[in-house]
Amino acid sequence: MEWKVSSGTADKQRTACLVTGFYKGQVLSPVSEQLDATSNGFISGILKRCNLHGEPGQTLLLHNVPGVLADRVLLVGLGDKKSLCAKTLRKCTELVVRYLNEAGSMEAAVYFKDAATNLSCYESIRVMQEASSDALYSFSGFTSKESNGRRPLKRLTFCVPRRRDLKDAENALFHATALSAGKSAARHLGNLPPNVLTPTGLALRARELASQHESLNCTTLGEEELARLGMGAWLAVSRGSANESQLIRLDYRQADDPSSPPIVLIGKGLTFDAGGITLKGSNGMDEMKCDMCGAAAVFGTMLALAELGLPVNVTGILAACENMPDGNAYRPGDVLTTMSGKTIEVLSTDAEGRLVLADAITYTRRMLEPKEIIDVATLTGAAITSLGHVASAMMTNDKHLGRELKRAAKTSGDRVWPLPVDDDYQPIIDSHVADMKNTSWRIAGAVGAACLLSRFAEETPWVHLDIAGTAWLGRDKGATGRPVPLLVQYLIHQCGA
Ligand code: BES
Ligand code: MN
Ligand code: ZN
Repeated sequence: MEWKVSSGTADKQRTACLVTGFYKGQVLSPVSEQLDATSNGFISGILKRCNLHGEPGQTLLLHNVPGVLADRVLLVGLGDKKSLCAKTLRKCTELVVRYLNEAGSMEAAVYFKDAATNLSCYESIRVMQEASSDALYSFSGFTSKESNGRRPLKRLTFCVPRRRDLKDAENALFHATALSAGKSAARHLGNLPPNVLTPTGLALRARELASQHESLNCTTLGEEELARLGMGAWLAVSRGSANESQLIRLDYRQADDPSSPPIVLIGKGLTFDAGGITLKGSNGMDEMKCDMCGAAAVFGTMLALAELGLPVNVTGILAACENMPDGNAYRPGDVLTTMSGKTIEVLSTDAEGRLVLADAITYTRRMLEPKEIIDVATLTGAAITSLGHVASAMMTNDKHLGRELKRAAKTSGDRVWPLPVDDDYQPIIDSHVADMKNTSWRIAGAVGAACLLSRFAEETPWVHLDIAGTAWLGRDKGATGRPVPLLVQYLIHQCGA
């Protein structure tokens, strides 16, 4: 698939399909207006005769529009002119791309920017590229029949009104293409079955990614090394699994000073979470292959970062592990000694993510002296209960970092919502037999998990994103690739780009 930007006039555009908008009340967008004039009222004439009000996503395909070089013109409803926002533009672009793809169009030129008067050129192109990439994504590769996943759409051109818009448009397209590639990679990893995407399978893919990008360096640690580092919490989780844990590290050092402290992204990478001895119910257990979506998002973000070549230092840590029950598995009641020396009483072996992350955070603080840590994890069902599938839960010990993530969420549309992790909440994970326990039981589930992590982040600026509700939409809809847009946007902002 190829994306381009162009500033050519609509009637002169030689394309298989010219896509242009109209608003509620059959009001034509500027480009549609212009085509209507060229064609002596052909477009407004047809619109008048049909029952389309201009609701977002309504479409009307026109052939042989007089005076227009394009083979066909696709008229698309864009809703109310005054309230045409990024969300509507995203939705309409998704619909158009699906329509074109199914109609067998190889190529099209999209004239939506002129219609989106509330959005900058940069914003419009970003949204349209990301929407089209999302719409074209499909997970395939595990059916034995030759797939007829034909992909007719080969090229999309986003047209902007003026030549001087091209610079912003090119920049937006560059950002969006990299971001979308990262997001699709994350979706793909999230959708892979857990017998294929084991911890070592993920390590293999990370090494492959690094081999494709000069700026990425990949190192992996197996269980022997994790044991040498004293990661008693992480290793307890994986003890019931036949698949070896992997700490996968992707280093990217492109800041002016390559030795300045890196931003470290840590992703929960439970390639399968059966719950361990605290076994989950069988209903929907297959979906627990999604429990590595945090690691997948970090992977996708590192991919986008390498494509963008941003001048920052970033390390991605994929904490890859499997949580299974067997005779060797850790149990409720066990007390674990973490790499930090702090001890944790296990109440539920299904609260495993925080145990793995606790050691990953200590590793990061000891080995990387990070500027800040952002961890991303499908950590609690409670995050879904609280916020559904709309916003990721965000908890932080650093106001500034929280504000910056909020800003990235606003720009990218990849939403977050804050939950607290202050001292008043810490007692909910106090234990009588160890420094802390691994669940807060029925109360404040997402916050309780964050409280545990905060005790390992200590004074390092840290943000925790609980993405249980946002990274995965259930069996049918699969992995979303979130929060790759949020993280990539955060890094773009940090570079002032
Ligand atoms: N991976 C799950 C959380 C999860 C739930 C992710 C649903 C995606 C969808 C996590 O390891 C887990 O099992 N959490 C428990 C914690 C509880 C035992 C304290 C939960 O949320 O039920
Ligand atoms: Mn679990
Ligand atoms: Zn889990």
